Amino acid sequence: MSIHDVVIPGSLGGQVPGPKSREILARAALVLHGASDADEATIPIVLDHKEGSLLTDVDGNVFIDFVGGWGSTPLGANPPVVMDAAVGGLRTFSVENTDYVSAEPLVDLAEALVEVAPEGLTKVAYEVSGTEAVETTLKLMRGATGRPYVISFFGQYHGESYAAQALSAQQAEFHGGMRHLMPGYLHVPYPDPSRCMFHHAGQCDGTCVVAYIRDQLCFHLVSPDEIAGLVIEPIIGEGGVLTPPPPFWDALAEACDEFGWLLALDEVETGLGRTGKLFAAEHWGINPDLMCLAKGLSGGALPIGAVLMTDAVAGAAGDVHTGGTWAGQPAACLAALESLRIITEEGVLDNVKELEQIAILALRPLRESSPIVGDVRIRGLYIAVEFVDPSTGERSADISALVHDRCVETGLIGIQDEVAHYRGLPALNMSPELFGMAMQILVAAIETVAEGIE
Ligand SMILES: Cc1ncc(COP(=O)(O)O)c(C=O)c1O
Repeated sequence: MSIHDVVIPGSLGGQVPGPKSREILARAALVLHGASDADEATIPIVLDHKEGSLLTDVDGNVFIDFVGGWGSTPLGANPPVVMDAAVGGLRTFSVENTDYVSAEPLVDLAEALVEVAPEGLTKVAYEVSGTEAVETTLKLMRGATGRPYVISFFGQYHGESYAAQALSAQQAEFHGGMRHLMPGYLHVPYPDPSRCMFHHAGQCDGTCVVAYIRDQLCFHLVSPDEIAGLVIEPIIGEGGVLTPPPPFWDALAEACDEFGWLLALDEVETGLGRTGKLFAAEHWGINPDLMCLAKGLSGGALPIGAVLMTDAVAGAAGDVHTGGTWAGQPAACLAALESLRIITEEGVLDNVKELEQIAILALRPLRESSPIVGDVRIRGLYIAVEFVDPSTGERSADISALVHDRCVETGLIGIQDEVAHYRGLPALNMSPELFGMAMQILVAAIETVAEGIE
């Protein structure tokens, strides 16, 4: 079935979860760390194969894919040109330790990234994943400034290594038992006008967060010249697709200039078209000192991460070591070049804008009409619906889980987090027909759950 074929809800193969999925998940629960059986798993099915934006499970059920490899398949599953580039690259170059033996695709990709990146980012360090890109960013920030502290924001997620987890502050339970081992990270609220921590609700422009950093953190906790800089997701993903207001960025840039702080953008999830611009930084014309990329960089073909930085950072960081054996594989670079070309030259960003409008029309009215919808946040194809308990108005992860379960039963697989969001990271080139179908399934699921609660 091709990406442009429309799945008819109800054409699912049968039971969800089906018997084969149940059996494999039961085996997984016994041998895989962190795995759950079908009764406990958030996604209670087992993948058989993917094609375009459709995902088929081992029992023959077909789903529209709103997980999208958690943002790693921006062109859907297996885009042929990208796959050919990756496979051809593996046949030609095999695997190489490119710190030691270089290859031209690394240079081609670095040149291509520098060409499209926010102004001033002129050098590239390759890594294997988003986590590693973040790790390297932290090393470069500290190496370039000689300062120990890095500021991060509550709700952000940066990966699973010790330092990336310490920089993250998504949910306390995710970082349990290790934060004390990794000093040097200072967390402040993410600018969120809808739930301003400084009680400016309704008139918050995000500058309160910068005022807090200046007046509280830098007065009581550490002096500004101990701080290397800040790492921020320009639009926060796991935190529910929050977009800081423009004055926040101006106030932050002022503080960075005044104190010599480096601004690092984590665009691992927002980068490469997700939010309707090639990089989220473009929404405000931000020129960061460093920028992390990964996930969709190779168009879903092979793992690759990258840190882009200014000449000044590269120069000041000197011989800070980056990379590793599998970092910057030539085949991954070739796939990334094709993916970048498709995104920038084949109307993908126009498609994102078209689908964004479909999502806005389908979901925004639910803010007023549905008692269980607290908010709808859409930026390009970065989509989050926040659920609330109608009896208290408080965010409800339980209601979000009910909506998610109903979506799975009716043919849509998206991301259900433990705060209260249902999120989508669909392919940027999904057809409007299939995307519209996904919206229908989601809206119907929300209505069904709301009726059950009333
Ligand atoms: C903003 C952000 N940074 C970093 C990461 C870590 O990337 P990876 O899973 O490739 O290590 C993620 C992953 O979800 C992310 O969303």
